[in-house]
Amino acid sequence: MAEHDADTGAGAGADPEVTARAERGYLLDNRQSEAGTRFEALGELFDPVTFRHIDQFGLRAGMRCWEVGAGGPSVPLGLAERVGPTGAVLATDIDTSWLADLTDLGGGVIGTRRHDVAADPPPAGGFDLVHARLVLVHVTDRAEALRRMIQALRPGGVLFLEDADPALQPLLCPDESGPEQRLANRLRSGFRALMAERGADLAYGRTLPRLLREAGLTDVRADACFPITSPACAVLEAATVRQIRGRLVAKGLATDEEIERHLANVATGRLDLATAPMVSAWGRRP
Ligand SMILES: C[S@@+](CC[C@H](N)C(=O)[O-])C[C@H]1O[C@@H](n2cnc3c(N)ncnc32)[C@H](O)[C@@H]1O
Repeated sequence: MAEHDADTGAGAGADPEVTARAERGYLLDNRQSEAGTRFEALGELFDPVTFRHIDQFGLRAGMRCWEVGAGGPSVPLGLAERVGPTGAVLATDIDTSWLADLTDLGGGVIGTRRHDVAADPPPAGGFDLVHARLVLVHVTDRAEALRRMIQALRPGGVLFLEDADPALQPLLCPDESGPEQRLANRLRSGFRALMAERGADLAYGRTLPRLLREAGLTDVRADACFPITSPACAVLEAATVRQIRGRLVAKGLATDEEIERHLANVATGRLDLATAPMVSAWGRRP
């Protein structure tokens, strides 16, 4: 887990151990202030997709869900609404900073726990639904994480994984019509380089249906989507770039002047920004 640091984590006087961990860990550290903005934008962009699928799985009152790498509150709250006071939602993350109020907000249905999906024992209890969105792409030991999520399902329970596939559609501006769009796409390519350096698999999304089948799940299905032009794409992009700008500059992937120019271009709302495609895949434990 990356320690909190506003810039590159490599400033004068930094503890070398903390710096070394920051260089290895999750790039978009939840303890940075932009993380809350990013979670809200992700919710706006992807919650409708996530719940369109979940509402087809037959989730109902009294059921138990595990939301893995929950990040912010929106998905746990949506699950709590569906399972009601007789159900239960466990929201876990390696960093629960943005889940603090959930126990009260969820009317006692939601529990939160700091938990590393690839390293900690899966919670007991036989879940009806285990869901992880945009999490596994960042986890180095993805195969172990997948095994642990499947172990946590009751027979007949659904594993629902949603993950990005930036290599499938790598552009921030698919319509590269001018210098603003070209700069945007170059900075996006720098962001991908930083993610890859930390062990992210940038072509992971497309593998999900096969991985679920190979893990023995049945009724495996998948689809994919990516928004273009949503105002939330601009909010997400500005917050992400602010969060990683120190690292982009330190690695020579962008200058401060280019980053300022890009942020001003994004703020005009005229770039037709896209996200990476998100693959949604699901299957049942026999
Ligand atoms: C891109 S955010 C997605 C958050 C949320 N699932 C969503 O879709 O809005 C990735 C989240 O995964 C969490 N994460 C990263 N590695 C993890 C791990 N090994 N175990 C559990 N959570 C992890 C991060 O802390 C972060 O909250």
